[in-house]
Amino acid sequence: MTVDIQSIISQLTLEEKAALCTGASPWTTTPVERLGVPELVMSDGPHGVRRVPDVHSIAFKSLPATCFPTASCLASTWDVNLLHEMGEALAEECIALNVDVLLCPGVNMKRSPLGGRNFEYYSEDPYLAGELAAGLIHGIQSRGVGTSLKHFAVNNQEFQRLSISAEVDERTLREIYLPAFEKAVKQAKPWTVMCAYNKLNGEYCSENHYLLTDILKNEWGFEGLVVSDWGAVHDRVASLKGGLDLEMPGPQDRRVQAVVEAVRSGELDEALLDEAVRRILNVVFKAKETPKNGTFDIDAHHELAHRIAADGMVLLKNNGLLPLKGCQHIAVIGRTAENAHFQGGGSSHINPTRVACPYKELQSQAGDAELTYAAGYPSDNTFCQDLIDEAAGLAGAADVALLYIALPVYKESEGYDRSDLDLTEQQIALIKAVARVQPNTIVVLNNGAPVAMNAWIDDVAAVLEAYMMGQAGGAAIADILFGRVNPSGKLAETFPLKLTDIPAYINWPGGAGKVHYGEGLFIGYRYYDAREMPVLFPFGHGLSYTQFTYSSPRVSAKTFRAEDGLTVTVDITNTGSLAGKEIVQVYVHDQKSGLVRPQKELKGFAKVELQPGETRSVSIQLDFRAFAYYHPEYKRWITEDGDFDILIAASAADIRHTLTVTLESTSRLHCILDKESTIREWMADPRGKVVFGTFYAQIEAQSLKTFGGGDESGAGMDILDMMNDMPLVSVLALQQRALTMPADEMVDGLLMQVHSMDQ
Ligand code: BGC
Repeated sequence: MTVDIQSIISQLTLEEKAALCTGASPWTTTPVERLGVPELVMSDGPHGVRRVPDVHSIAFKSLPATCFPTASCLASTWDVNLLHEMGEALAEECIALNVDVLLCPGVNMKRSPLGGRNFEYYSEDPYLAGELAAGLIHGIQSRGVGTSLKHFAVNNQEFQRLSISAEVDERTLREIYLPAFEKAVKQAKPWTVMCAYNKLNGEYCSENHYLLTDILKNEWGFEGLVVSDWGAVHDRVASLKGGLDLEMPGPQDRRVQAVVEAVRSGELDEALLDEAVRRILNVVFKAKETPKNGTFDIDAHHELAHRIAADGMVLLKNNGLLPLKGCQHIAVIGRTAENAHFQGGGSSHINPTRVACPYKELQSQAGDAELTYAAGYPSDNTFCQDLIDEAAGLAGAADVALLYIALPVYKESEGYDRSDLDLTEQQIALIKAVARVQPNTIVVLNNGAPVAMNAWIDDVAAVLEAYMMGQAGGAAIADILFGRVNPSGKLAETFPLKLTDIPAYINWPGGAGKVHYGEGLFIGYRYYDAREMPVLFPFGHGLSYTQFTYSSPRVSAKTFRAEDGLTVTVDITNTGSLAGKEIVQVYVHDQKSGLVRPQKELKGFAKVELQPGETRSVSIQLDFRAFAYYHPEYKRWITEDGDFDILIAASAADIRHTLTVTLESTSRLHCILDKESTIREWMADPRGKVVFGTFYAQIEAQSLKTFGGGDESGAGMDILDMMNDMPLVSVLALQQRALTMPADEMVDGLLMQVHSMDQ
């Protein structure tokens, strides 16, 4: 049934319209019964459905739902199809639990591993995060359930998260903090986008016209509604003007009244209110079409959560001990072997349908091996040597020690950032004590973000990063340890060696209401590349029980135009004896550019499954944006002529092949020369060069005459080089006596000529 939204809007009273733009309860929009407008039900997200029994109350405990792996684990699958599949399952649960919009996914960048909510986010790389988010959104929305892409934008820390101003330059915003949103919006069309709590460059995201209206709605063509994060609105009228359509949660009678009064007084254009109402009603009626009261297959979804966890865990280190074979006695150490640590704290907390017990899952796959257990560390932050001694005793008597180490909740959750990268003192002492008596020590980690391992990594045989692995993760760990599953996850973030290496370190977490994104474009591997710094584990790293070779790299063209795209192909062969999956990564390096660029940036990837001995050709498409960068002066994405290296890699630090291609740019750039432009800038601009070129030769000659050249003059510098970085007007002023008109008039004249060429 098609609903005539315009006709409904014309029948709504001003009060009803204002009420529609603010929630009626913690999780629902305001219905208008007389016109058949139903309420819309929203629930968190992102890795399960947190549907409270009564959506009109603030109760927290939610109905049982599948707790899928959290975003860090999910992202390490690098498998867009798997995210799509998870999205479909989430939608089925939404339909069963009567949820219209699931508040996910979160695509904020992992600016620092210290971010308390990193477990809810995908990556430090915007390309990877955007692709994965689009997959999940497509999956959920393919079943008629909406999503809410969050938190828009630059919401990268918990410290003062409701008020801090993220101070970010335009280029960094466009190249690092927005592209994942942009990709998801353009490609997957989420029904809603949730604004962030924080301010961006001094203005609340909830009121930020540039962000919500200019960029999201106008530039990217977002057709859905913008919802506030829960409690992010400070001034309802200002937020409507900025482009925020729906305020949550409700009820907020005074806010509604403020909107009514603002329209009556003429402060708020009623057309703006109507536009917000139109967007809200579109989503409300889209959701109405979706069948309600479905059921979902609890077992099948648990199995899917299991499969995703197994694909998302990352084998970081393996000296050959894994997969385990023929052991007689395994000492299982760590309290989370009994009580799985599989999700994070805060709004994403799911009431799982069931939880796989890691210890029992080991038992079921261990065959005849004897398993013994010790807790190893207490549940609180106390140090207990007795627990360490007991564990070391068990470990020494076994063939293998398996340590389940989970970062405690007080160290990592929504609501606060981490203050260091460390495990607890007790956990570090435990690992060291066990490794001292047992060379076959394996560490299984449950955490949402990187931890430091310097104190013990060299002492242990293997490390499996199991992340916050969802309710079935306990089974996935056993699968990997015993080789039922060949690990294939790769890191979607860099593991730094130490806290002080983190790119944002000296600008984190800010203070006095501001956090300066001083590292600019250089977060994650972009920073470590630029500084040539060693890391603990690089972005894109992950081991397998088999090996892959990369051969016959090729490109569709050696010389190309970015608009036509480029196809990169490579043959991948599984040279080992086990079936496995490989994640092939393509990075792009611009050999020379007008503005500084990162050494390399991920622009494509593919995951391929291969039987032993099998070879497959993997093709990866690179589009315009793979080569472009955002130029803050032209205010657009541009490409430049020149050579680019295409790096075909198994991780950011494991480049298997490099191919060089030549880009012929078609970017027509308007002139950005002005009164302050340097001589170098004049000569770099194609029109500037035409207008100023011959004149330049005269200036050059005159300068040499006046000041002499290079060292022979005794000046100890190359005068021409110095002059090139001076504004043209200043150079002319120095030679004023030789000129027929004042220097600034002369530059004005040249500028006029250049601008006339733009017409
Ligand atoms: C979180 C959002 C969440 C909302 C509703 C906020 O505190 O930042 O991610 O969707 O609460 O629970």
